[in-house]
Amino acid sequence: MKILVVGKGGREHALVRALAESPSRPHLFCFPGSDAIFETASPTTANDLHTLVDWMCEQGIDLCVAGEESYLVKDEGLANLCARHGIPCWGPPRESAMLEASKEFAKDFLVRHGIPTATAKAAASRDEAVAAIGGTYPVVLKFDGLAAGKGVAVCPDEASAIRFLDEVFIKSRFGPGRLLVESFLTGPEVSIFAAIVDREYLVFTPARDYKRALDGDAGPNTGGMGAVASRRLVPRETLARIEREIVRPTVDGLAADGMPYRGFLYFGLMLTPTGPQVIEYNCRFGDPECQAVMPLVRGDLAAFCHAGAQGRLDPSRLSFDEGWSVCVVLASAGYPESSRSGDVITGLDAPGDHRIYHAGTRRNATGAWETAGGRVLAAVAGGHDRKSAVTAAHNAADRIRFDGMQRRRDIGILRFED
Ligand code: AMP
Ligand code: GLY
Repeated sequence: MKILVVGKGGREHALVRALAESPSRPHLFCFPGSDAIFETASPTTANDLHTLVDWMCEQGIDLCVAGEESYLVKDEGLANLCARHGIPCWGPPRESAMLEASKEFAKDFLVRHGIPTATAKAAASRDEAVAAIGGTYPVVLKFDGLAAGKGVAVCPDEASAIRFLDEVFIKSRFGPGRLLVESFLTGPEVSIFAAIVDREYLVFTPARDYKRALDGDAGPNTGGMGAVASRRLVPRETLARIEREIVRPTVDGLAADGMPYRGFLYFGLMLTPTGPQVIEYNCRFGDPECQAVMPLVRGDLAAFCHAGAQGRLDPSRLSFDEGWSVCVVLASAGYPESSRSGDVITGLDAPGDHRIYHAGTRRNATGAWETAGGRVLAAVAGGHDRKSAVTAAHNAADRIRFDGMQRRRDIGILRFED
C-alpha cells in the first residue's frame, strides 16, 4: 500500500512514524515533508496541490492522509481533488472542513444541532463587536478564520478587548474577516479525537494540551508547548456523556446537513460545571496531542485509515494502550512572537525508551540537525501511570540542547495536582 501524508510538522512526523510501524508496512511518502520526515517517508516531486494530485495519480497512491488543515480548504480542497481523481482520502472535503476554517460556520452548526457550546454573536465591525460585548467581562473574541491558533483572545477587561478589536479591525492582523464574540466558559479543557466514517465513529485516546508559553500557564498563547494523553484522563462517565451529547450529535449533524466526513475530527472541549461544551472543532488531529496519542495506538493505523477512507470504519484494527503518554515541546528562541533558525541541536540520539518527533528542524551543510522554526522538537514518553510518563518525558527532553531552547517543566504535572 502506498500512502501519502500531507503536512510537515511534528504531528505529521508522528503520523508518518505510526503509519510506518503499521503491520501492513505501507510505502510512505510525504508532501511537503521535512528532512526528519524524509528519513521515514519519501519526498514527492510536487510543488502545489494540483501537481500533487497529478503525482499521486502517476504513482498509484492508495491513500492520502491529511495532516495539516490548510490544504483541506485550499483551492478546490485536498479531499475534493482526491475524490475527483478516485484517490481515497483520510480527511474531509472542503465543505465539511469549514467546521474548522470558519468559527461562525461551526457555531451555527453547533446551535442548529443542539450541541452544548458557549453562546456567541457575530460582528462585522469594531462597533458591532463593542455592542455585542455589551460591557460583560471576561469575554472571548475569536477571529472567524484560520489564524494558526492566534486568532482567539480571552479578554478579562475592556482594555484587552479593545486591543484585540484594533488588531482585527484596524490593523487587519489576520486579514479581512468577521469576529465572534463568545461568552466565557470555565473548567478543565480536554481534546477528544474521533475517527469519523460517514455515520460511524471511533474515539481515540483523550488528550490535553498546554497552550501557554511558560510554566504555570503564564505567558502568551502558543501552538502548544506539550500534551498529555490517557484513557484515564477523563472519567468513564464523562466520556460517555461527551459521546452522547457531543460526538454522536456532531456525526449525525454532519450526515443530516449533507456534509461528508471521513477522517479525524478534533473536539476542543471545556468540562464546565454544567457539563462538557464545545470550544472548537478542528478537522484534523491536534498538534502536539498527536505526538502524545500516536505512541498509545496499537494495531494497524494504516489499514484502519485506508478502510475508513473507503467508507468502512473498522475498530477491530486498533486498540489503545491503557497507560499515559507525555509530550514535552522544545521551542526555539523568541517563540511564539518569532523564532530562530540555525541553532545546532545535540542529544537527539540519547538512548532510552522515548520518541523524539521533529517539528521545526533541518539538516545543515555538515549533516547536523539545527533549528528551523518555532516549535522545534517534541520529546515523548509513556508509562503505566502519569508520574512515570512525566519523569520519562522530561528526562528525554533534558538530554536535548540547543541555544535559546525554551520548554515548560510542568507538562503533565500542572492541572493534575491532587
Ligand atoms: P481556540 O483557538 O478556539 O481553541 O481557543 C484557544 C483557547 O482559548 C482555548 O483553548 C481556551 O483556553 C480559550 N477559549 C476559547 N473559547 C473559550 C470560551 N468560550 N471560554 C473560555 N475560554 C475559551
Ligand atoms: N493543540 C491544538 C491544536 O492542534 O489546534
